[in-house]
Amino acid sequence: MIVTIVGTGYVGLVTGACLASQGHTVRCVDVSEERVNLIRAGQAPFYEPGLEDLLREGLASGRLSVTTNLPTAMEGSDLSLIAVGTPSKAGQANLPGLEPDLSYLETAAHQIGVELRTLGRYHVVAVKSTVIPGTTRRVVQKVLEAASGMQLGEFGLCMNPEFLREGTAVEDFLNPDRIVIGQADARSGDFLDDLYRPFDCEKPRVGIEEAELTKYASNALLSVLISFSNELAGLCEATPGADVETVMEGLYLDRRLSPTVQGVRIRPEILSYLRAGIGFGGSCLPKDVNALRVYGQRSGVPTPLLDAVMATNAARPAQVLWIAQTALGTLAGKTIALLGVAFKAGTDDLRSSPALSILRALETRGARVQAFDPVVSAEAAERAGLNGAYRQTLESAVEGADAAVITTADPAFRNADWARLSSGMRTPILIDGRNVLRHVTLPALVRYYPIGKGARLADERCGADTRVCRVETRLDAFRVLTSTAETAKAAH
Ligand code: UGA
Repeated sequence: MIVTIVGTGYVGLVTGACLASQGHTVRCVDVSEERVNLIRAGQAPFYEPGLEDLLREGLASGRLSVTTNLPTAMEGSDLSLIAVGTPSKAGQANLPGLEPDLSYLETAAHQIGVELRTLGRYHVVAVKSTVIPGTTRRVVQKVLEAASGMQLGEFGLCMNPEFLREGTAVEDFLNPDRIVIGQADARSGDFLDDLYRPFDCEKPRVGIEEAELTKYASNALLSVLISFSNELAGLCEATPGADVETVMEGLYLDRRLSPTVQGVRIRPEILSYLRAGIGFGGSCLPKDVNALRVYGQRSGVPTPLLDAVMATNAARPAQVLWIAQTALGTLAGKTIALLGVAFKAGTDDLRSSPALSILRALETRGARVQAFDPVVSAEAAERAGLNGAYRQTLESAVEGADAAVITTADPAFRNADWARLSSGMRTPILIDGRNVLRHVTLPALVRYYPIGKGARLADERCGADTRVCRVETRLDAFRVLTSTAETAKAAH
């Protein structure tokens, strides 16, 4: 098939490179000339394992091309995939900043609609961008019809959500667990079925709105699991002798979560979202949960569960701050190594990274931060405003630190030589925000603070009046975080 893809972000470019590898002719379009030139040179504008190999292969074979010119990219094309961003923009007064910005989507639909007039063949338009239920018909269909002068039926319409994870996007695309085809009619859906013929997985044909909702439902479920685990971690921390990892292990053994097949217990991957940590971030989960809340509010459907999921998540950085402050007595004048700045391991994406919230809160408290991430370049860190805080190596970040805080599960942190690293620290305090060093034997001198384990910290700091003291120190950490968030908002 000849496929046009509008937008060369994560979704568009990974989709384009992977579809070209399966024999389709793919033409990617982007408004940024700089980005197009980079891709033409075989370089991905972001870090994604395996992507550059596929790009180079596709470009060399001629099956993949990139342009800023949409009309050229649509000549003789069977199908257009819209994969432009739908970032959050300032929204309603009671849910500020949660409304998705649809301007890129409208522009893409308009430009495709104009080309439909002269295309001279049946063409299907499929939305891959994550959009609030109703948007594909209410916005995309309407704009396409207005710009083309045609009616739905003369062209096809689908909504085809993506389920790619950053860091494993290429692998996820090439080995999909499902391909959800939201179709306006069977003829439109048949085109997507043809497109995805090389992929062997279930391909449910559903309504357009059901496809839109399936995407949100998937990310909302992940966020619920994460916040549940984190809330449980808090309860374990308040319970002397309790460890969230042991409690979770007991939970996993429920055969409904980990069935035994022929005597072997299967541990489904979903269990990885039932691990306590510093909370979720990235360009998807927080944005999508918030968008679903806005949709609920607009539709008159309260979403107290999702509201609580976000509140629990927003409180996670404060938890780390509390641990650091309690372990060190004070943060003012202390040097803290922040290990990991991306929103998770295996990516250089800093959007909505909980590590950055921790960094700002530490600095507000008067600490000096030395940050490092094995995947994030110094330039990217600088663009994110880290400037002097960023270090080029793990060693230089940890050197002279009063405490180190691990914020991503990067294997480099688990496999590091902690005997050597901790000997270079002023005080060997390790705060493990992702519980990655739980099973590593650390030097005896290291004071190790994982997430969700007993009340050791509060006891160390608070002595006899533990309960009241714990509440006070936590409230204090929340106050810092709230004032940091407010300052950041005011600065925008
Ligand atoms: C997520 C979904 O997993 C994909 O299926 C979806 O396609 C994608 O969003 C999207 O909508 O485009 P991604 O944002 O790459 O993918 O990240 P995940 O690997 O799911 O992690 C999300 C966040 O949850 C990260 O901040 C991660 O550190 C955090 N997390 C994950 C936890 O805090 N605890 C866990 O146990 C697991």
